[in-house]
Amino acid sequence: MLNSQLHKYSTPLSTKTLIPWHKPFISGEAAGASFSKHQESKPSKKNKPFRVRYVPGSRIKAVQVTPATTDKATKVVATVIVQVTVGGFLSNLGWKRGLDDITDLFGKSLKLELVAAELDPATGSERETIPAFASRAGREDVDDIKYECKFTIPQNFGEIGAILVENEHRKEMFLKHIELDGFPNGRININCESWVHSKYDNPEKRIFFTSKSFIPSKTPSGLVKYRENELLAQRGDGSGERKESDRIYDYDVYNDIGDPDKNKDLARPVLGGKEHPYPRRCRTGRSRTKEDPLSESRSSFVYVPRDETFSEVKGLTFSAKTIYSVIHAVLPSLENAAIDSGLWDFHTSQPLTHCFNEGVDLGEEPKATLFNLLPRLVKTITDQGKNVLLFETPELLDRDKFAWMKDEEFGRQTLAGLNPYSLRLVTEWPLKSALDPGTYGPAESAITEELVEQQIKGIMTIEEAIKQKKLFILDYHDLLLPYVNKVRELKGTILYGSRTLFFLTPINTLKPVAIELVRPPGKGKPQWKQAYRPGWDATSAWLWKLAKAHVLAHDSGYHQLVSHWQRTHCATEPYIIATNRQLSAIHPIYRLLHPHFRYTMEINALARQALINAGGIIESLFSPGKYSIEFSSVAYDKQWRFDQEGLPADLISRGMAEEDPTVPHGLKLAIEDYPFANDGLILWDIIKMWVTDYVSHYYPESSLVESDEELNAWWKEIRTEGHADKKDEPWWPVLKTPQDLIGILTTIIWVTSGHHAAVNFGQYHYAGYFPNRPTIARTKMPTEDPTEESWKSFELRPEDEILSCFPTQIQATRVMAILDVLSNHSPDEEYIGAEPEPAWADEPIINAAFEVFSGRLKELEGIIDAKNADKNLRNRTGAGVVPYELLKPYSKPGVTGQGVPNSISI
Ligand SMILES: [Fe+2]
Repeated sequence: MLNSQLHKYSTPLSTKTLIPWHKPFISGEAAGASFSKHQESKPSKKNKPFRVRYVPGSRIKAVQVTPATTDKATKVVATVIVQVTVGGFLSNLGWKRGLDDITDLFGKSLKLELVAAELDPATGSERETIPAFASRAGREDVDDIKYECKFTIPQNFGEIGAILVENEHRKEMFLKHIELDGFPNGRININCESWVHSKYDNPEKRIFFTSKSFIPSKTPSGLVKYRENELLAQRGDGSGERKESDRIYDYDVYNDIGDPDKNKDLARPVLGGKEHPYPRRCRTGRSRTKEDPLSESRSSFVYVPRDETFSEVKGLTFSAKTIYSVIHAVLPSLENAAIDSGLWDFHTSQPLTHCFNEGVDLGEEPKATLFNLLPRLVKTITDQGKNVLLFETPELLDRDKFAWMKDEEFGRQTLAGLNPYSLRLVTEWPLKSALDPGTYGPAESAITEELVEQQIKGIMTIEEAIKQKKLFILDYHDLLLPYVNKVRELKGTILYGSRTLFFLTPINTLKPVAIELVRPPGKGKPQWKQAYRPGWDATSAWLWKLAKAHVLAHDSGYHQLVSHWQRTHCATEPYIIATNRQLSAIHPIYRLLHPHFRYTMEINALARQALINAGGIIESLFSPGKYSIEFSSVAYDKQWRFDQEGLPADLISRGMAEEDPTVPHGLKLAIEDYPFANDGLILWDIIKMWVTDYVSHYYPESSLVESDEELNAWWKEIRTEGHADKKDEPWWPVLKTPQDLIGILTTIIWVTSGHHAAVNFGQYHYAGYFPNRPTIARTKMPTEDPTEESWKSFELRPEDEILSCFPTQIQATRVMAILDVLSNHSPDEEYIGAEPEPAWADEPIINAAFEVFSGRLKELEGIIDAKNADKNLRNRTGAGVVPYELLKPYSKPGVTGQGVPNSISI
């Protein structure tokens, strides 16, 4: 176990211990300031394609600056690092480049203005800024261009609080950082990492603050106005259509999923509002459709605030754009190849594995596109000069070709697979629906006491099983049943309400004992339901396999639409919008959360564009079809609660844990060997301790939380705007104390890191081999209203029944290609606790806490390895078993089934 060592950093920390901000730098009191040993090091250049970040160990500290001389003025050199970008002003494209070269030639590339931290004490008014033009001074390295200028700072200017930047070029530029050198006691480094618009597009100057963070009440007097104005600008006024260079964060409902102007079958209801509660998305302000005045028209460009986007940089191969390309350019080619080759010839001697072992000849074309976008899938066989579509063997299949058929593996994956969020403890018997029997038929379950006891006979009675917490359930009955009749109107899919009951064996493994499938009354037919159990004869064994295929399709849908999309990607977007609207970039909580929001808005915009849209990938692959995203709204309405999004509360809500102060994490698990919960709780605690240290430093007392108007506005907006349909719920945590804040922030960071990693990066491992997790069930059970002919056909060739129930060839190919991309870590992935933000590194106490945080995460790697080697933990070890590594913090690039990134970026 981890030792609790953080406490020594966790005592309430007063800002009094820090370098006093109010000392004017010119006062000659340098002896009182302390400086980092790193302060003279140069900013390093991390050789990344785009997401170039601050690198630890090469820090430039923003320190109190005190000139060595007592002359009237200090001369300082500013170096500005600008990244070369494809679309920015350094690109070779277009006439604007010529004008920008001339601008560079005349030394008027960038106008910088130093902003004094404090107002003039004599007059109480703002000091004049100190301007200078920076001109191009050559390349810093292959990715960066350097600009330089000189400032002469008068004696009475005081400390520098910020820099205003005006881009004199005709095109935007990506500003990485600004370094001010010439102070005898160290440089000031201002981290920017931001797109700066051309002044010809927008005359407003950009402001970049130094790395010292301030809650509003402690803002240096000279920065108060800038702090407020920056937030006002980012809020916008709620009108107009957003353009690419905007930095405005605002809310809207999900009304751009449908495309009613293109085809009335592509009309979809608005998600967000009373009828279909939903989190809010970023407002784009596009015009409404002609057919539906409530829907927004779709466009090839979907706005996200400028700094939320991936950049176009040479060599960038992993991004939302890759996914878009895969969907639009690659999938059709793959599908044709798969069909032409008979890839899914189930009657061959090697059914279902051909695509992994031998591959499919793609011929000569279109090799370049395919190979570049899906290098893992498309192999070039050079000696034969051919391109071959060869899917990487998913980990599950690689370790055990028969795993998908096994009941014990079915049970294990509810605890250690890619959807560990659904299993619940059974606390009441008999099982019963809460739906209206008048509409949905009798509420009683077909899973009877007798049926269950047949399965657990000799071990215990059902009464004992409930009492001893031995029964668990995947319950998709009440959520799915209202959609069954609607979905059955669609072509090529079928749906049931389902319940799957598991028994916890003495060795902590789950044995599935019964599956119930239910169809509500409709079209003149009464309710139909049937309970299946692992068979004792050939027919019932086949029916059990078929029932399992249905439940797996339900679980696949719930995983993708709810556990993954709705609870992580979708629920997080309002946090990001509120953070940028209400917390200044100089606010410590903004700086704590910022790395956890990287690229989420862009990946979500892409999802609206090509994944969850009407007729898009999700609708074409999952059982609920066109109702898929609407279904995620139902789950949001009935299940989502902020106070249960943190891991401990989630486990308690499902009966998977109960509070017990005598055990580690204060939680006793209902299933001791629950790999997701075992590793997740350690990660949760590590995050919470880091957040505790961070919050305690800036909020040593509750009054500071209560009086922080930005923080309170932020929390209010998350509740009443971002999650507006839940605004009146009584369960929202109140925000009055540092402890409240720690709880809220830990929950948000857990969702963006641990939760998302657990449900995202195992997708190809487990669902890449579709028999293990079919996304759709296409045919009804042979026992539902059978005809003599259909039953005979089933008896004659039962395997045909299951193959026609599984996804089609095209669906399976799409799933594999998409999951391969979605499960991928990019080479520049940013993992939790790997690197500090510049502002954290510049605050000694925060930096020390971060190093402990980082150390504990590295320790977690070893803990997980040790668990995976423990033969007593049968849900993560054993013959053919895929070890549970999804919450190991770090990973190399690619599809690895491990690694916890800071943010939801894929
Ligand atoms: Fe994801």
